[in-house]
Amino acid sequence: MRIDIISAVPELLDSPLNHSILKRAQQKDILEVQVHNLREYGLGPHKQIDDYQYGGGAGMVMMVEPLDKCITDLMAERAYDEIIYLCPDGKLLDQPLANKLSLSKNLMMICGHYKGIDERIREHLVTMEISIGEYVLSGGELAAAVLVDSIGRLIPGVLNDGSSALFDTFQDDMVAPPVYTRPEVYKDWTVPPVLLSGHDKKIEDWRYEQSELRTKHKD
Ligand code: ADE
Repeated sequence: MRIDIISAVPELLDSPLNHSILKRAQQKDILEVQVHNLREYGLGPHKQIDDYQYGGGAGMVMMVEPLDKCITDLMAERAYDEIIYLCPDGKLLDQPLANKLSLSKNLMMICGHYKGIDERIREHLVTMEISIGEYVLSGGELAAAVLVDSIGRLIPGVLNDGSSALFDTFQDDMVAPPVYTRPEVYKDWTVPPVLLSGHDKKIEDWRYEQSELRTKHKD
C-alpha cells in the first residue's frame, strides 16, 4: 500500500511514521508513506498557503490553489482509492473503517490547519472525511498518524504474528482479554492459574469470558 500525506507541518509526522511497526512495514516494502510539504506549493515569494476567510471572522483558511496543485500532481501519478481529509466533523474512525481502508492500494490524506481548508477542495477533490474523535486538534497530522497506524498494522505481513490483529479489541466488537507475561509472581501479584495450565480449551474459554466481562463493563 502507498499512502501520500499532504501537510503544512511535515515534521509532526516524522516520529510516528518512522518508529516501531510502521517503520518495519516500510522497511519490508509492504507500506510506503510519502509526506508532501504543502509549503512547496505555496504562492509568491513567501510561499503563502493560508489567507483570511471571506465574510470575516477569526482564523486563517488553507488556500485552494496550493492544495489543488499538490493533489493534482499526486493524482497524475496514480489512482487513489480515497482522498481523505482529516477533520473533526468527519466520519468517526472505528475498527470497521480501518479494516476497509487497509484493503486499499493508494490512499491520500490531507492534514488541515487553522480554521480548515477552503471548502472547494472538500467539494471537488476529497472523497472521504475522517475524524479520530469528538474533539478539536490543532492540525490533522496527529490524526493522520493515528489513521496510518490503525490501517498499517492490518496489512498482511506487517505484524510478525499475522493472527494477532484479528484478536484486537474491537475486531469483533469485543474488548480484548487481559494479558500477562513473566514473572508468574511479582510482589504478591499473581497470574491467573488457568493461563499456566497448558490446557488450550480452558484458556480459550477463560479469555472469551474475560472479553465478555470487559465488553459489558467498558463504559
Ligand atoms: N483535525 C482537527 N481535529 C481533528 C480530529 N478530531 N480528527 C481528525 N482531524 C482533525
